Amino acid sequence: MNKAVVHADWSIGTINKNIYGHFAEHLGRCIYEGLWVGEDSEIPNTDGIRNDVIEALRNLKVPVLRWPGGCFADEYHWKDGIGPRETRKRMVNTHWGGVVENNHFGTHEFFRLCELIGAEPYICGNVGSGSIQEMSEWMEYMTFDGDSPMANLRRQNGREEPWKLKYFGVGNENWGCGGEMLPEHYADLYRNFQTYVRQYGDNKLYKIAGGANSSDYRWTDVLMNKAERFMSGLSLHHYTVPGEWADKGSATEFDENDWFVTMKKAEFMDELLTRHSTVMDRYDPNKRVGLIVDEWGTWFNVEPGTNPGFLYQQNTMRDALVAAINLHIFHRHCDRVQMTNIAQMVNVLQAVVLTEGDKILLTPTYHVLEMYNVHQDAEALAIHGQFGKVNADGKELDQVGVTASKKDGVIHVSLYNLHPSEQSEISLELRGAEGSFNCTGRLLAADAIQAHNTFEEPSKVSVKAFYEAKIENGKLSLNLPAASVVTLRLEQ
Ligand code: AHR
Repeated sequence: MNKAVVHADWSIGTINKNIYGHFAEHLGRCIYEGLWVGEDSEIPNTDGIRNDVIEALRNLKVPVLRWPGGCFADEYHWKDGIGPRETRKRMVNTHWGGVVENNHFGTHEFFRLCELIGAEPYICGNVGSGSIQEMSEWMEYMTFDGDSPMANLRRQNGREEPWKLKYFGVGNENWGCGGEMLPEHYADLYRNFQTYVRQYGDNKLYKIAGGANSSDYRWTDVLMNKAERFMSGLSLHHYTVPGEWADKGSATEFDENDWFVTMKKAEFMDELLTRHSTVMDRYDPNKRVGLIVDEWGTWFNVEPGTNPGFLYQQNTMRDALVAAINLHIFHRHCDRVQMTNIAQMVNVLQAVVLTEGDKILLTPTYHVLEMYNVHQDAEALAIHGQFGKVNADGKELDQVGVTASKKDGVIHVSLYNLHPSEQSEISLELRGAEGSFNCTGRLLAADAIQAHNTFEEPSKVSVKAFYEAKIENGKLSLNLPAASVVTLRLEQ
């Protein structure tokens, strides 16, 4: 039996809504086809952005969107993506399939997308192959209100008012595709570049330094030591890859052993956050600097027959559980983690939406993020629990995960059962809350761990009402189906 106490009167911090952020890169069919189809497309669109995807993303409540990369960011020259589309310069997207990028989706289109889906923009600038002047002029173009060369160029391109831009990243993976730098070199460059990322008028900037690759704690240490006072956030990238880098494993063809390996690898995020936070605490004990996990998610082999450089993968109940595990970890670390961005939004890696021509489907990962969006900006509640253990590839994992939050007097409890074939009984005590509660619930479960949505059967995996949770005298009892995710709403 699994048991937990949810402390309704004990907040461990606020769950920044940006923990539910996304990432969209010029990679494969994420931007082109997935988000952007162009104004002349037969696919219904608003200013070139497909309406079905806008609607899905609005319903998801995407708080923040990172763009244009990823590795693409350090090759991107923003001036190529402004002005009349037919005359925009083309470039080779060397990282992602060597395809020709026509730059039809640029700064103006990105801000329009953010506006349409209700997300805050987070732009990543080019350090690897760009210049300080280029980065500085981009900021002037986007946010300066007065009479200046860049602001006037923006006006000439049809945008009178400056945009509001808070989140700006100074380079991406500068230890790898963003320039193969050593941390000392990047720390110097970061200080240098960020000096000219100017704050104009009442636009308030939150500057994010390029952070570590997974468990490279030394990178975090050097960046915090040399540049802490110049940053608001420091990033971290970590993907859940069940196999080896050269053969990551199939997204849909896996067995229970592969499932457990994946769960164990997903749980590693907890160790990563604990250890990076511990390093950051040495330089920033008051936790001013946010840890920004601006790339996370599953990474499998591409779907057979698709371009290996496009990173297109299907999404099953295994991805749903990986998403839930990560979100629970982010909630627990909400004192330090101020934003995360799942990679990537559409048609790439752990996508929430897949498209094919004019067809669209919502993935199991979409459903988890949608069920969990009730936790955005809520107070994370302290939880003490004792859970059954499963042996996942030689490591003991809790079979059940519980996270809870409170906002406007309503408590939401989300739970998962990561066992692929056994249900889990759980008893939850709600402590520190007076009176009686009405409980309603929503469940994501399927008849197989490999279950996923297809364009022929787009609603095979979908959210259902969950009536099995009983609440009596502050005690909740429920049975979680195998490989499932639940969110309960407790209201007085
Ligand atoms: O998300 C795909 C790629 O993964 C990004 O471009 C890069 O930053 C990371 O290595």
